[in-house]
Amino acid sequence: MSTISQSWQSIWQSAINCSSLKHRMDRISEKERLNLTEETWYKKMGYKINLDDQQKTPAFEEQFSRFKRFVTKDSTVLDIGAGFGRLAIPLAKEVHTLTAIEPVRVYMNVMKDRAARDGVSNMQFSEDLWSDFPLHEKYDLVYSTWSTAVKDPATLMKMHEASRGYCVLETRATPLQKLEFFGQIYPMIVGEEFRPPGNYLNFITTLYDHGIYANVKTWRFDREERVQTMDDAVDFWKINLGKYTEINGEADEKLKHYYRTNMNQDGSHTFNYKEVYCMVWWKV
Ligand SMILES: C[S@@+](CC[C@H](N)C(=O)[O-])C[C@H]1O[C@@H](n2cnc3c(N)ncnc32)[C@H](O)[C@@H]1O
Repeated sequence: MSTISQSWQSIWQSAINCSSLKHRMDRISEKERLNLTEETWYKKMGYKINLDDQQKTPAFEEQFSRFKRFVTKDSTVLDIGAGFGRLAIPLAKEVHTLTAIEPVRVYMNVMKDRAARDGVSNMQFSEDLWSDFPLHEKYDLVYSTWSTAVKDPATLMKMHEASRGYCVLETRATPLQKLEFFGQIYPMIVGEEFRPPGNYLNFITTLYDHGIYANVKTWRFDREERVQTMDDAVDFWKINLGKYTEINGEADEKLKHYYRTNMNQDGSHTFNYKEVYCMVWWKV
């Protein structure tokens, strides 16, 4: 009798290879593509986000206290895909040094300005993609929140290699297909189901392959975002579609039609996120 032996890691790799990511344009590098989509998003809507208000919400306070459990005043910390420094800047105030990796220039500039405004001088910055970041030292805490930087077995195991204390990943646990964008918009425009390149369970099972038994905690994370105009919603969908595929002129009409049939009475549209998020963490 033959036994089938396939590692969890190779199952994840197969899911990536067959995923919707395979439609992505490859004439530009991953870093250029990231800068292109994120800069477009920032210029159209991201600049409106009030980070000071965001950092006062109960959801932020809960998240911040989850992370504070992993550090002391002497800790060295690495934040992978730090964005505007939403978590990195306040956490830097609690630790010895914090290195923030963020390959998108507009976000890096916002993060540096905010760190300077808050008088935070113990941060170091890198504009590398996580896969390119040179590891010269180990950190007490290595973490990544709400980012696609840890996207395959190699980038996951690199986190482990970078740490001498804890690794923490926070991401959504809800299957992507349950969200409006992946469940309805993507299939309508691309003409096929969205195939995700894995999920948080791939983190846990791949770590298991390496003899690492990760912990997991999940919680509800419900929120609503409202856009006032059709153009705002269509722009938002087009920016997200651009991460996976090239979009043609026909897409515009389909998106507008979708908007009109799903808008509120006052002409606005509500993005309803009823989700479960999770934290996966392990001791190195
Ligand atoms: C949704 S934002 C989250 C930012 C921040 N971690 C937070 O929780 O507020 C995701 C960030 O991950 C970054 N990112 C995506 N892919 C990356 C990669 N391969 N290496 C490093 N950062 C990446 C993006 O540029 C973006 O700033």
